[in-house]
Amino acid sequence: MSPQPAAASLATPDEFRAALSQLAAGVALLTVHDQGEAGPAEDAGMTATSFLSVSLEPPLVLVSVREDSRMDELLSRVDLWAVSLLGERHRTVASRFAMKGRLSDRLLFADTPHHRGPATGAPLVEGALATVECRTEQRIAAGDHTLLIGRVLEARVPSPDGPPLLYFRGGYRHLA
Ligand SMILES: Cc1cc2nc3c(=O)[nH]c(=O)nc-3n(C[C@H](O)[C@H](O)[C@H](O)COP(=O)(O)O)c2cc1C
Repeated sequence: MSPQPAAASLATPDEFRAALSQLAAGVALLTVHDQGEAGPAEDAGMTATSFLSVSLEPPLVLVSVREDSRMDELLSRVDLWAVSLLGERHRTVASRFAMKGRLSDRLLFADTPHHRGPATGAPLVEGALATVECRTEQRIAAGDHTLLIGRVLEARVPSPDGPPLLYFRGGYRHLA
């Protein structure tokens, strides 16, 4: 059988989604503090499973953000951001920050215990398994997403023994 041309994909969007839904992922809350040069200062958050470690020396991480989303627009202006790795107890936080056309982020953060990261000023979720604060080192356009490669400024492990929140086959899961 001859190989397909490199640009062609034989996978339908449904097949692609079904295959990738078999990958169990940790759930993170990506957050930004917008100083608000054009308006009032505000915090923004977005649930993300695309967070991963890229390099140890220097310490780099990556997160993939849907192009033209509010978070993408914010991160094109603000280069400091943070990620809180969520635990089982943060299931409601994860689903609220993933909702389309959701309540304002201000109301969501009012309901989500958090403190400000010392390096970025971005909200860090109270009781997160780990928090990582970053400065964008590279932005890469990739299909309908933007890949943000971040230099790690601070990494902390407030709840090392907490059970993680997972996302698998289209739903939130807990470890056995
Ligand atoms: C479990 C889960 C993981 C997600 N991971 C990502 C992600 O890695 N990148 C992304 O851009 N959106 C991701 N999303 C979608 C965003 O959370 C969601 O589109 C966004 O919060 C909606 O905000 P908007 O109304 O401002 O568009 C994920 C959603 C869920 C439920």
